[in-house]
Amino acid sequence: MNDIGIAPSILAADFGYLMRDIKAVENNADYLHIDVMDGHYVNNISFGIPVIQSIRKYTDMKFFTHLMITNPEKYIKVFAESGSNNITFHVECTEEPFKLIDEIMAQGKSAGIAIHPDTPIEEVFPFIGKVDIILVMTVYPGFGGQGYLDISDERLRKLRKAIDEQGSNTIIAVDGGVAEDNIRHIYEAGARLFVAGSSVFHAEDPAKAIEELKRCGTLS
Ligand code: DX5
Ligand code: ZN
Repeated sequence: MNDIGIAPSILAADFGYLMRDIKAVENNADYLHIDVMDGHYVNNISFGIPVIQSIRKYTDMKFFTHLMITNPEKYIKVFAESGSNNITFHVECTEEPFKLIDEIMAQGKSAGIAIHPDTPIEEVFPFIGKVDIILVMTVYPGFGGQGYLDISDERLRKLRKAIDEQGSNTIIAVDGGVAEDNIRHIYEAGARLFVAGSSVFHAEDPAKAIEELKRCGTLS
């Protein structure tokens, strides 16, 4: 990943033509973001393991799996075996986050921790240097197509400062409401990896939309 990475979220793809949509971003995206929702942690149900196993057969993209599920500890192994490259779970969803991180890494996978907009950002500070990605939710988890929450700016700045102070290379990712007109602003607040659903898959040319996001994100 260069200075700025884009992870299109298939939640905004057309599931009837899922592989066609994935192929459209395969050469331009840094990761494929895969939103798994269980109807418990969030008020929505998306898809699960069989879908990941199926798409794994047809692309070499890096899968960034965002588990919006309760009891993630029960499913780490199966998500690892289904072909996820990164497994990210919510700090709100487990009592034993460090154990989970170890388990993910023991499976040879990259580990991430996600944080809900209502959870104090300081709650992810103990994971700096322990996980590869900290995923800051910039919308309320559950649905695509929402607007970026302005309260995120301050949260990102605090996290950026804490990471830089420790000299850590943990990546700050953001998820929700990322578009061409705000990506530079979010970059300046501290994010380096950008999950983007609607702004990529609802565009006429998703590959071009990724390039446009990267261009806008690196403007000075
Ligand atoms: C929301 C998901 C996001 C979502 C982002 O719960 O975690 O990944 O797909 O969608 P947009 O980019 O449309 O806000
Ligand atoms: Zn997500």
